[in-house]
Amino acid sequence: MPKEMLPILDKPLIQYGVEEAVAAGLTEIAFVTGRGKRAIEDHFDNNYELDQHLRGKDEEAAMAEIRRLIEVCSIAYTRQLDPLGPGHAILTAQQIVGDEPFAVVLSDDLCFGADEGVLSQMVSLYYKYHCCVVAVQEVAPELTDRYGIVDADRQEDGSLRVKSLVEKPSPNEAPSAMAIVGRYILVPQIFDDLQSIRPGFGGELQTTDALNERARKDQVIACEFNGIRFDCGSVEGFVEATNHCFRERFNSN
Ligand code: G1P
Repeated sequence: MPKEMLPILDKPLIQYGVEEAVAAGLTEIAFVTGRGKRAIEDHFDNNYELDQHLRGKDEEAAMAEIRRLIEVCSIAYTRQLDPLGPGHAILTAQQIVGDEPFAVVLSDDLCFGADEGVLSQMVSLYYKYHCCVVAVQEVAPELTDRYGIVDADRQEDGSLRVKSLVEKPSPNEAPSAMAIVGRYILVPQIFDDLQSIRPGFGGELQTTDALNERARKDQVIACEFNGIRFDCGSVEGFVEATNHCFRERFNSN
C-alpha cells in the first residue's frame, strides 16, 4: 500500500494534504506518483459500486467529503520513474506546473494550522514577498540530521529571511534547529536550479539544495507556522496523529 494512503482515522494522509491545499485556494492538483501507487488515483475518483452500496446508510456521509474534493479540484498525475530524490519528484511535475508559482505538499507530514491551514499561512507570505516560502518548525537540536535546516534572520512580521539551507546536517554542523516541514511554495525558477544542481545528501536531488540557490540568487522566506505537525513517516508520529485526531473528533482526553 502506498504510504500516502495510510488512513488517519477514516481518511488517507494524502486526502488531508489535498484538503489543506484546497483550503488555501489551490485547486489545480498534480500528483507525482510511482510504481505501486495506483490506489491514489482510484481514491480520487468516483466509485459507483461503493456509492450504490452505501446509499441511505450511515456511512454515506463519509463519501461526501471525497466527492466534494473531486468536484472542486482538477487533478493530473505524473509518474516519477526512478526514486532520485524529492527535487527530482518536483522536476517530474515541471510540464504540468508550467511557468507559475506552485505549492508542494509532502503528505507524510500531517499539519493542522491553529486558525488557518499551514499552506494558507504560507500563501499570505507569498503574496507579500513573491518568492519561495518554506514551512519551518524548531526541533530538538539532536534531530537536525532528519531534516532540511535553515539559517535565517527573524523579520519584523515574524517571518524569517533565509540566508542558507542545508539538508540533514549533523547536530554539530547544523546552523540552527529550524527544520523544514513538508510544505513549500516555489517559484518556477526553481526548475532551473533543480536542473543545475548536483545530487546532494544520499546521492539524491534535494529541494533544499535548489532552495539554497534561490536564497543566494533571490530570496527565500521561512514561515514558522501556527499549528502542529506530525511526522507520519514514523510509527510514533503516525500513532500520535491518530490519537490527536481521535481526541479532536470525539472531544475526549
Ligand atoms: C524531506 C526534505 C527535508 C524536510 C523533510 C520534512 O526529507 O528533504 O528537507 O525537512 O522532508 O519532512 P525526507 O523526510 O523525505 O527524508
